[in-house]
Amino acid sequence: MPEFFHKPVLLAEVLNALRPRPGGIYADGTVGGAGHAAAILEASSPDGRLYGCDRDRAAVETAKHRLSRFPGRFEVRQGNFADLAEWVPWDSCDGVLLDLGVSSPQLDTPERGFSFLSDGPLDMRMDPAQPLTAADLVNRATAEELARWFWELGGEPESRRLARAVVQARQSGPITTTRQLAELVERVSPRRGRKTHPATRIFQALRIVVNDELGSLEKGLSGAMKILRPGGRLAVITFHSLEDRLVKEFGRARAREYTCPAGVDVPELRQPRAPEARWVSRKAIMPGAAEQAENPRSRSAQLRVMEKL
Ligand SMILES: C[S@@+](CC[C@H](N)C(=O)[O-])C[C@H]1O[C@@H](n2cnc3c(N)ncnc32)[C@H](O)[C@@H]1O
Repeated sequence: MPEFFHKPVLLAEVLNALRPRPGGIYADGTVGGAGHAAAILEASSPDGRLYGCDRDRAAVETAKHRLSRFPGRFEVRQGNFADLAEWVPWDSCDGVLLDLGVSSPQLDTPERGFSFLSDGPLDMRMDPAQPLTAADLVNRATAEELARWFWELGGEPESRRLARAVVQARQSGPITTTRQLAELVERVSPRRGRKTHPATRIFQALRIVVNDELGSLEKGLSGAMKILRPGGRLAVITFHSLEDRLVKEFGRARAREYTCPAGVDVPELRQPRAPEARWVSRKAIMPGAAEQAENPRSRSAQLRVMEKL
């Protein structure tokens, strides 16, 4: 069994939101190292059940191993949470969890190519069976595409300059490693006293594109509502403002007492309907000071919870 340790964030808050109970049925779309999943099974003993998935094969193997102390009570598959509603029965779950982003083992394994802090192939695939890698994007995308990703998904203020530098650098040979890219970013946009490494935003943007993270999230949220039973709860932990905005907009649209057929909210065109969900906590729940101090990776986490009506 490979070393795979990920400290679950906002664990008490997730349990408080999903309220696991004996006989309950739960789904964890980002099972990772099974920290949350094990706690849900523990709290729903002796017969609560859990469907789990993760895009990462190593995570799935670890999760199955860690959950083996709950025999017959879980089913864990490798796959995208965007497809949960294709195999989990509709209207069945009391709680669904999506804990987005990358796991500590993914970040800490240089061969996975997620981190600019160590040298590895420019990969960043959560599912290593997927063909598209970060190197493909960096070596094939146009300067305009790169600049748009760096700006929209990374919030990088020097997006255009960095995109042009990437395109120029690859003319003398492909950019294939995390170190090559991180050094290039540092040359063009030096640290100058900044706390975060200049490559942080660029790596984040590429990771989101490689894994189509926003597309999966949109589909995953809709799928989660299908598999929840009325009264069941959806808990989503995000680590990025774009993800959080998507979750907020999704919840807002489901909680409305009308639909907007034109795609935009024109009051005269609103069609009344019963809301499909309600917010359990309107405000995002953040980790407390103690958790942030103990687990620095929790600092950007935000939890939102809604209930299917
Ligand atoms: C923050 S970790 C989850 C940790 C987990 N809650 C735990 O307690 O160990 C995020 C996990 O989500 C997985 N992941 C990210 N996007 C996914 C997607 N669209 N479908 C399935 N798994 C995904 C990653 O591979 C990673 O293992």
